[in-house]
Amino acid sequence: MNRSTRSSIFITTSLLFSAVGCYDQADGEFARLKDDGSDRLLHTRLVAEGKVAYETHCIGCHGENGDGNGKAAIFLNPKPRNFKLANYKFTSVKSGQLPLDEDMKRTIRQGLKGNSMPAFGQLSDHTLDALVAYLKTFSPRWEEADAGQPIPVVDDEYRYDDDRVAAIKRGEVIYHAYASCWSCHPAYVDGETINQYRRDLGFPEFIAFRDDMHLGVGKDNVEGQLIYPPDFLRDYVRAGADAKTLYRSIAGGISGTAMPTWVGSMAYENEDGEKVVKEEDLWAMAYYVEELIRQRPKKLDDPVEPRDRPRPIYLHGEPPKQDTSDDTTADDADDSEVIDDIEF
Ligand code: HEC
Ligand code: HEC
Repeated sequence: MNRSTRSSIFITTSLLFSAVGCYDQADGEFARLKDDGSDRLLHTRLVAEGKVAYETHCIGCHGENGDGNGKAAIFLNPKPRNFKLANYKFTSVKSGQLPLDEDMKRTIRQGLKGNSMPAFGQLSDHTLDALVAYLKTFSPRWEEADAGQPIPVVDDEYRYDDDRVAAIKRGEVIYHAYASCWSCHPAYVDGETINQYRRDLGFPEFIAFRDDMHLGVGKDNVEGQLIYPPDFLRDYVRAGADAKTLYRSIAGGISGTAMPTWVGSMAYENEDGEKVVKEEDLWAMAYYVEELIRQRPKKLDDPVEPRDRPRPIYLHGEPPKQDTSDDTTADDADDSEVIDDIEF
């Protein structure tokens, strides 16, 4: 580079910055011009910095074009996230919505437990911002929609230590008898107890339970990979095992997987207008799951066998076959995956 090009670059840059500085004092049209121009410039710079950081730290797993097919990906299960789909699982918004920047930064900073996503606690906040800006360039969804609204955090009735036992007990009831989390995750009590809890809440009993109700049921994610919902007594939860994080995972659900959003679907009144289940019970479930995780042994030696499709077992003998449709054969009914009104 000769002296004259160098000085012309210098002049252009200083002009640019003095122009930005000058608009700073202005208002009206000029202020808008300044906002547009300098924001875009800053953003472009941030994305460029993000690209450098991505290529240094992330490319080996998440791949050059963000599709999750980096060189190491074939060795990894679960696979690194495909940023082209913009399905972010561990967020504070409802499943299916775009996450907040803070959600993405938290995952990068803390990593995810029990899989290969490392914690990048050493990176500065600015680098995390740059990475987030760069990750967003992989999917057009970021241009089509805004990030979701943070899910409401209802009052935690059980926030004091004295309330823990009550919270855990209530959580066990709601987990099994109302939310039927065991239609995917394992059940941690037996069928009789679930029906007892249902009677206590004023719900009709279940007539059948799947025969492997103490194991989770694998479900395909959006990319067709089979994912087992964690058994809290033996598997890691990814985002965090404290009640606050569990509240977020349970209330918001997990994008791209079968794990549903629970916030907004907890209020249930019986015929007398009594609130049998309420939003605050989300906290009870969070404490219950937290307690299960606390009981998890440090070391597990029995590997989990791959499982077949679940079949129901009937508590009081097999009910008489109902001839609901012409094409339902006895065999189909035997293999039915529907228990009461819950579909697996
Ligand atoms: C050693 C492999 C590996 C490296 C290196 C890696 N990741 Fe990941 N990352 C993963 C895996 C695997 C997942 C998916 C985990 C899952 O589905 O449970 C993931 C998931 C994510 C997610 C999704 C979080 C969510 O809420 O769904 C983000 C964001 C992410 N990584 C960002 C990064 C960034 C940024 C870097 C570099 C600074 C990086 N990762 C480096 C393996 C890696
Ligand atoms: C329709 C199936 C389904 C139902 C019902 C369901 N889950 Fe899940 N859940 C999943 C799947 C699948 C995952 C694993 C997602 C992953 O790791 O990619 C999961 C993951 C989780 C996690 C782990 C979050 C983390 O950080 O790794 C928690 C906690 C959880 N579920 C709690 C619950 C609770 C409590 C209920 C009942 C209120 C429930 N789930 C009902 C399918 C389900």
